[in-house]
Amino acid sequence: MLIRRRPSWELPESAATPEAVYLSRRHLLGAGAGLAAALGLGLPAVAAPTPGNPDLDPTKDLYPAKRNDAFTLDRPVTPEDISGNYNNFYEFGSDRRNYQVADIAERMPRRPWTVKIDGLVEKEREVGIDDIIRAMPLEERLYRHRCVEAWSMAVPWTGFPVREFIAFAKPLSGAKYIRMETFVNPAVAPAQNRFIYPWPYVDGVTMAEGMNDLAFFVTGVYGKPAPNQYGAPLRLALPWKYGFKSVKSIVRISFVADRPVGLWEQVQGREYGFWANVNPEVPHPRWSQASERDIGTGERRPTLIYNGYGEQVASLYAGMDKTEKLFM
Ligand code: MTE
Repeated sequence: MLIRRRPSWELPESAATPEAVYLSRRHLLGAGAGLAAALGLGLPAVAAPTPGNPDLDPTKDLYPAKRNDAFTLDRPVTPEDISGNYNNFYEFGSDRRNYQVADIAERMPRRPWTVKIDGLVEKEREVGIDDIIRAMPLEERLYRHRCVEAWSMAVPWTGFPVREFIAFAKPLSGAKYIRMETFVNPAVAPAQNRFIYPWPYVDGVTMAEGMNDLAFFVTGVYGKPAPNQYGAPLRLALPWKYGFKSVKSIVRISFVADRPVGLWEQVQGREYGFWANVNPEVPHPRWSQASERDIGTGERRPTLIYNGYGEQVASLYAGMDKTEKLFM
C-alpha cells in the first residue's frame, strides 16, 4: 500500500528476517522479562496491563461467542501469533517487520469509546461501544482475508452482521452509502503526527453491500476481545473485498447520499478505488493479483474472484462492469 519510493537503505521484503525468526525473537523477549522477574531484577513477570490490554475489556464475558457454521474455510486458520503480528494499521506505523504496529497499538486506550451515528438517520446520536456490543447478536465466523498487497490469512472473527447495526441505526430512505471513520488521536497513534496521509482513515460501502450477509462488524478474534492491532473495539470485515475497505477502530458511522471517498482513493485514486472487489485477473498497476501468499502456511495460492465469495456477492454487481471499476 505504501505510496512512496523505497529508499536505497531499505530492504525488500524478500531480504528481511524470515517470519519464524522474528516471531521467536518476540517470544524470547517475553520469556526474558519473566526470567528477569524470577531472578529478582525488578521487571514484571507478565506484561504490565496497558490501556489497550484486551484482558481488561468490559465485554470480555461475551466471549467465546457461538460459531456460525455457515461460514467455513478451504484452508487452515492462521495462527494468532502470525496474524496478530502482521497488521496494516498505518496510524501506528508501517514497520510490520519489527512488530511495531502491535506493540504501539497496545498503548491505545480502549475505553471510554463512543461511536457517532449520524447523517441520514431518524436520530443522530453518540453511543457507548459497550451499549452497541451488548445490543448485538455476537457470533464467530471463519473468514478469509485478502490484502491488496497480495497476502492473505484466515481468521476466526467474532462480531455481528452490519445489517443488525443498520437496523439499530435506523437510516432514512435517502441513505445510499455507509461511511466509516477511524479515530484521530496523535497522542497514541504516532503516524497521525505526520501529514503523509489525510487522516482520519475513511472508507465505505453501499447500503446493499452493508445489508449483504457477509458484511460483518468485528469486535473479537480467536474467541476473545480483539487486541488493538486488529482494529479494536470495532472494525469492519468484508471478505470479498481487498482488506483496505475494512476500516479499523471505528468512531463514526454516517449514512449518506453520496459515495464516500476512502483514504487510499484520496491518496492514489489510480490504484485504489471505491469497489475494490478481489479479482485475480485485474492486476494492481504495480503488481499481479493472480496469486497470494498465505501468511500462515507460507504457501502461494491462486487468488479467487471475490476471494471465493462470488456465490454470496456477485449479484450485487450485476450489469455494473461496463460503467464501474469494480476490481480496483
Ligand atoms: N484501518 C485503519 N484505520 N488503518 C489502516 O491502516 N489498513 C487496512 C485495513 N483497515 C488500515 C485499516 C488494510 S490495508 C488492511 S489489509 C487491513 O486493515 C488489515 O487488517 P489486519 O491488520 O487485521 O490484517
